[in-house]
Amino acid sequence: MVFRRSHGKASRLPMISKSTIDQVYETARVEEVIGDFVQLKKSGSNFKGLSPFSDERTPSFMVSPVKQIWKDFSSGKGGNVVAFLMEHEHFSYPEAIKFLAKKYNIEVEETEQSNEEKEQANERESMYLVSEYAQSYFQDILWQSPLGKAIGLSYFKERGFTEETIKKFGLGYCLDEWDGFTKAALESAYQLTYLERTGLTIVKDDGGDAAKKRMFDRFKGRVMFPIHSLSGRVLGFGGRILGNDKKAAKYLNSPESDIYHKSKVLYGIFFAKQAIAKEDNCYLVEGYTDVIQLYQRGIHNVVSSSGTALTPEQIRLINRLTKNITVLFDGDAAGLRASIRGIDLILEQGMNVKICTFPEGEDPDSFAKNNTLEDVEAYLKENAKDFIQFKASLLVQEASNDPIKRADTVRDIVNSIAKIPDRIKREIYIQECSQIMNISEAVLFNTLAQIGQKEISDARKQLKQEQKAFDVVKNETVQEKVDVLYELERKIIELLLLYGNQKERFEDLALKENEAGDLVLEPEVVEAKVYEKVFLDLQEDEIELSNSTFKSIYFQLIGKLNEEKEFSITDFLSGLDQEIVQEVSSILMEEEKYVLHDWHRKDIYPKGKEHGIAQLVGETILTLRCNLIKNRIEKLQKDTEDDHGQEHREVLEEIMNYLQLNKLLNAKLNRVLS
Ligand code: CTP
Ligand code: MN
Repeated sequence: MVFRRSHGKASRLPMISKSTIDQVYETARVEEVIGDFVQLKKSGSNFKGLSPFSDERTPSFMVSPVKQIWKDFSSGKGGNVVAFLMEHEHFSYPEAIKFLAKKYNIEVEETEQSNEEKEQANERESMYLVSEYAQSYFQDILWQSPLGKAIGLSYFKERGFTEETIKKFGLGYCLDEWDGFTKAALESAYQLTYLERTGLTIVKDDGGDAAKKRMFDRFKGRVMFPIHSLSGRVLGFGGRILGNDKKAAKYLNSPESDIYHKSKVLYGIFFAKQAIAKEDNCYLVEGYTDVIQLYQRGIHNVVSSSGTALTPEQIRLINRLTKNITVLFDGDAAGLRASIRGIDLILEQGMNVKICTFPEGEDPDSFAKNNTLEDVEAYLKENAKDFIQFKASLLVQEASNDPIKRADTVRDIVNSIAKIPDRIKREIYIQECSQIMNISEAVLFNTLAQIGQKEISDARKQLKQEQKAFDVVKNETVQEKVDVLYELERKIIELLLLYGNQKERFEDLALKENEAGDLVLEPEVVEAKVYEKVFLDLQEDEIELSNSTFKSIYFQLIGKLNEEKEFSITDFLSGLDQEIVQEVSSILMEEEKYVLHDWHRKDIYPKGKEHGIAQLVGETILTLRCNLIKNRIEKLQKDTEDDHGQEHREVLEEIMNYLQLNKLLNAKLNRVLS
C-alpha cells in the first residue's frame, strides 16, 4: 500500500542523540515556550503571569529570559524549559525534547536503543505514538486511497471544508472494513496492547483461546477528527458516521485512556490558543464542525467541549489564556435551558461570560459557511449578550404571567449572580436585573443575602482552615530563616552560580608569625576566581556542606567551573537531575521572589551585593566557616558528655583546636566587617 508510513514504530523506539539535546537547549527560549501556554507580561527584566499550576488571581509565576528558567511561587515548582514541559504537559524527558525540536525546526537525530531500553520505553509514549500513527494513517487513506477519496474526502468537501482546512485539522477516514486499520498498524509493528488501550482497536475474546481473538476497528467506516492536546499531540479521535443512520451513534469518540481524558481537553485548543490570548476572548461552540467552519471563515479563537457541559478543568484551560468567554448556541432553543445551568461554573471561576444565539435552524457551522467573515463578525458583535442580562431576559419571557414561576426565576438569577466572585460586579448585576425583570433591587439584594449567608459561612470555614495551614507554613518559614547554616550554604551555591567564573581581588588575612614569635593576622590581597576562593577556603578547614542537595550541586558546580572556560547556567542546568534543577532554579529566582512580594528578609548577611562581590564572597565563606566550626565544637562537647572513656583527652584537644580556629575566624570576620 502506498499510504503506509514507517516512522515511530514501537518495536524500535529510538533514543535522542546528545548533540540534538544540546542543540535544543541552545535554541529553545524559555519565555517563548512558556508563552504558548501562559499569558506572560513583561515585568522588569522578567515576565510575570498567572500560575498554570494553581487557581490564583494574582500572578506569582515568573520567567527569567536572562537565566532561562521559571519559578512558580504558588506551587514551589520551577526549573528550565524542559522541566516546564514535563510539569505542564506531563511529558517525559524525550517527549519534551522532541516537542522543542519540533517547535524550533531542529532535526532529531536518533540512536538505536538496546533491548532493555526498548522494554523500558514509556507506556504512555507508546500510546501517543500509536495515536500519531493512526492520525497519519487515516489522513493518508483520505487523501490517497480510492475509497478514501471517493467517500471521506468528498464528504468533507461537501460540507464546505477546503483542502487547506482538511489538512490543517488532520482530518481522515477509516475504511469500512472490519480490521483494515488494525492490520496495517500491526504490520507496521505497533503493539496490539496500545491499539487496545487507546481504544482504536476493539479486541473480543472468543473463549479465552488466543487464536480466537478477534479484532475490530472502532472507527470502521467513519470520517475522523483527531483531538489534539494544548501542545498539539494527538490524544484521541472523534469519528462521524456518514449519512443519517438513525440506529448508530452519529459521533463515536475515543474512550477514556491514560492519554485521553475527555473532561480535560477542548477540541481545537491547539489551533486556537494563540488567537484566544491575542483576541482576549474565546468562542465556545458545541461541535467539531462548528470549530472547523468558524476557523476556516477566519475566526480562530474557537474551541468545542464536544457536546458536553464544560468541566472546571476545561474552564481553567481557557482561563489561562483569557478571562472572556463567549458561548455560541445553536438556533434550536431546546437545549438552551439545560446548557445555561452549566454556565454558573464559568462565572464561579471569575470569568466574564457572554452568550450568542443563532437564528432558528442555524448553528455556528451553517452560519459561518453561509456568511462572509465581515457578516459573521458583525453578527457576533451585535448578538453576543452578557450572560446575566441574557438569562434575566429569558426568564422574564418564560414566567411573564405566572407569579409562582416568577419567584423561582428570581432565585434562579440571583443564584447565578451569587457565583460571581467580584462584589462590585455582583451589585451592578443586581441593579441591571432589577430593571430587566421589573423586580425591586431590595428583593434581589435580600435574596442574594440569603444565598450569601450560607456561602459566607462556608467561606469563613474555609478561610479558617486556610489560615491554619498558613500558620503552619509561617512557622516553618520562621524556622527556615533561623536555620542560618542552610541559608549560608544556599548563598554559597548562589554565589558560585552567578559569579563563579568572575575574577575578584580578595582581601585575605593570612596567619603569620611576627618578630616576637606571636601568631598574627595580616592582610593580603589575592586575585582569584570566585569559585577558586570558595573551594580553597572550604578545603582549608576540610569543610563540606551539610545539606546533601547543596553538597551535590556544589561538587558538580566546582567541577564544571574548573573544567570549562565559559560557564553557562543553561548548559549547567541541562546536565542536572530534574530535582536538582528545581533547587537551583529556586536559588536563582531568589532575588526576583523578594522583588515580587516585597518581602523582608532576615538579615543573615551583613551587607548586600552593592558592597562588592569579593566582600560578599569573603563574608559568606567566613560566616559559614564559623558556623560549621561552632557546630563541630558543640557536637564534640556533647560527645564528651556522653562518653567519659579514654579518648576524652584527645577530644578535648580537638575542641581546643577548634576554639582557636573559631577565634581566628571571628577575628577575620570582624575585620572584614569593620
Ligand atoms: N457528539 C458526540 N456524540 C454524539 C453526538 C454528538 O460526541 N452521538 C458531540 C460531538 O463532539 C459533536 C457535538 O457533540 O461535534 C455536537 O453534536 P451535534 O450538534 O449533533 O453535531 P455537529 O457537530 O453539529 O455535527 P454535524 O454537523 O456533523 O451533524
Ligand atoms: Mn452541525
